[in-house]
Amino acid sequence: MRRILVTSALPYANGHIHIGHLVEYLQTDIWVRFQKLRGRRCVYICADDTHGTAIMIRARQEDLGEEELIARMKRAHIDDFAGFDIEFDHYGSTNSQATREVCGQVWAALRKAGLIEQREVTQLYDAQAGTFLADRFVRGTCLKCNSPNQYGDSCDRCGAHYSPTDLIDPVSTLSNTKPEIRTADHLFVNIEKLHGFLDDWTQGGKHLQPEVANYLKGHFLCEPLRDWDVSRPAPYFGFEIPDSPGNYWYVWFDAPIGYIGSTVEWCRKHDERFDDWWRCPETEIHHFIGKDITYFHTLFWPAMLKAAGFSLPEKVHIHGFLTVGGEKMSKSKGTFIRASTYLDHLAPAYLRYYYASKLTARMDDIDLNFEEFAAKVNADMVGNIVNLASRTARFAEQTGLSAEYPDDDGLFDKAAADGQAIAEAYESGDFARAIRIIMVAGDRANQYVEQQAPWNLRKDPTKTDRLRDVCTVGLNLFRQLAIYLAPVLPRLARQTSELLGEKIESWDQSQKPLLGTPVGKFEHMMRRVDPRQVEAMVAAGAEPTEDDSPPESVPFDNDAPLLAEPLAETIGFDEFAKVDLRVARVLSAEDVPGAKKLLKLTLGLGGDNRREVFAGIKGVYKPEKLVGRLVICAANLAPRKMKFGTSEGMIVAAGGGGGEVYLLAPDHGAKPGQRVH
Ligand code: MSP
Ligand code: ZN
Repeated sequence: MRRILVTSALPYANGHIHIGHLVEYLQTDIWVRFQKLRGRRCVYICADDTHGTAIMIRARQEDLGEEELIARMKRAHIDDFAGFDIEFDHYGSTNSQATREVCGQVWAALRKAGLIEQREVTQLYDAQAGTFLADRFVRGTCLKCNSPNQYGDSCDRCGAHYSPTDLIDPVSTLSNTKPEIRTADHLFVNIEKLHGFLDDWTQGGKHLQPEVANYLKGHFLCEPLRDWDVSRPAPYFGFEIPDSPGNYWYVWFDAPIGYIGSTVEWCRKHDERFDDWWRCPETEIHHFIGKDITYFHTLFWPAMLKAAGFSLPEKVHIHGFLTVGGEKMSKSKGTFIRASTYLDHLAPAYLRYYYASKLTARMDDIDLNFEEFAAKVNADMVGNIVNLASRTARFAEQTGLSAEYPDDDGLFDKAAADGQAIAEAYESGDFARAIRIIMVAGDRANQYVEQQAPWNLRKDPTKTDRLRDVCTVGLNLFRQLAIYLAPVLPRLARQTSELLGEKIESWDQSQKPLLGTPVGKFEHMMRRVDPRQVEAMVAAGAEPTEDDSPPESVPFDNDAPLLAEPLAETIGFDEFAKVDLRVARVLSAEDVPGAKKLLKLTLGLGGDNRREVFAGIKGVYKPEKLVGRLVICAANLAPRKMKFGTSEGMIVAAGGGGGEVYLLAPDHGAKPGQRVH
């Protein structure tokens, strides 16, 4: 029996799961479910990636211990994945004893192979925060073009790349102080010594997609490989290197080792032999990752595995990035949608199906287009597949399925024969192709039901046998497709099992009709997507909430806005308290014809309490993007007559004049009508 170990990349513990991540976890889950359905021994392993500077800084900002922060995030990640029916065999953490031990083993092997070297590194150091500064925690003036406030490694303005120690007037974004230059010893892996091995492994045509192999050859393998800096001096949240006190393994050293550490835990729990999984040529290891982390998984990782005597991956499956409406996911546009936000509005099956219909074996980016999303789900899942059951099951409730399979013009056999091509498509990661074949079979089945019109047969008492035969065919064609779709739509498979009284657990069930069994009561299986649900989700995603989008560091802000508009004179608390600010939801927003800047908004304060206000935000906010979101409004202002109508309040926004406007919004959880104190 094929034995397969599958992993997805370990999500960082410093942020929540979003719909971009889900491309990968759904892709992997579908592949794993497919393998299990085919009867393979397949184990799906993942974990949180918990170490590094970003976690350390975020823990400080939130005034939490790192351990507490990562424990909370792990719970949130596990809930999000479960909400999408992503089923791991084990979900661990890189901050585990098992991972620490495997790190030690790999390290000892690298030492023994003479691959570790020590060298001094000069870096900026923030004395106040007491830490060396990664490039992204430094800002300063570009040495080439003099533009201020540039990141530590490159200039946005002129594109120059440099070392943060060369910046003019560098500032640490952690403390807003001027960093010092300090040196420290770092440990490096000399992976150039494994260049020959990496040439063979990456270019052999077996383990990587061709475009990935070419990219590695063109960008890295064409010249000597640079040493890899794998240590960081204290303070650092991670594992201290046993033979180098005061130094820690860099997060990217222990992160992939977390795949092994998490497997160790799974083995202990299930009494499995570890060597069967990571030191056994018969076990296939498959990694699923996104294109941004190619380099770590196709050069460093195989080099480490090789040096430490673990199995190498059979395949690294690399997917592209998610775009939404053709653009990068964006917090301000509301397209940076958290998994939990999605689940507040829409069923997980929709996204599982939609991503499956778009995923191929190539590394191309995939685009989420909301109109297409709704149209596809409604036409394919509801209109095609589920329709087969909903138009037949009810008429078979009394009679059950016929004892013999009726003549169906070869439809069942045809779809059974499709099974081969569908399975090959799944196996190769071309889920889009699998779905296309399934939908064509669904169309054929629907034509049959349409022609036989069971709803008419039912009216004729002499045709009860015929009716049962037609429903037997319709339901069997439906069941066949539900089996093929089970990796993508496990809930539909479960509902089908309940309806037909037979558990779906093997691909082979698609090859033989189900006969002579009772048919359960038909319960609706899937609702159509209502575009309003999608709109509400996007609106919810657009509410800037503090906890879901922490900046990677505290940015340095200059004082231009204050200079442009100096503070007003001091007032007493009583005066402030007179202004009654309330949370409000935008119920409708429309253009005011003839007005240059105004939009007319209806604000809801909960229940029937409404306010009509005119806001000078036309051209900055599109009316349709405002509907559903929360704003803050001054709710006790006397109504004011304006040229276009009466304004019953004001919404609160920031801006420096000159057309710049930023609406304020409360954090996630606030409710319309709540007072702002
Ligand atoms: N912690 C590292 C992985 C360590 S693996 C030993 C990491 N974490 S991540 O949370 O940033 O990303 C996890 C996975 O999600 C990565 O494979 C990444 O490519 C993928 N994606 C994150 N954002 C994505 C999109 N917008 N679109 C598609 N995949 C994306 O990287
Ligand atoms: Zn520059």
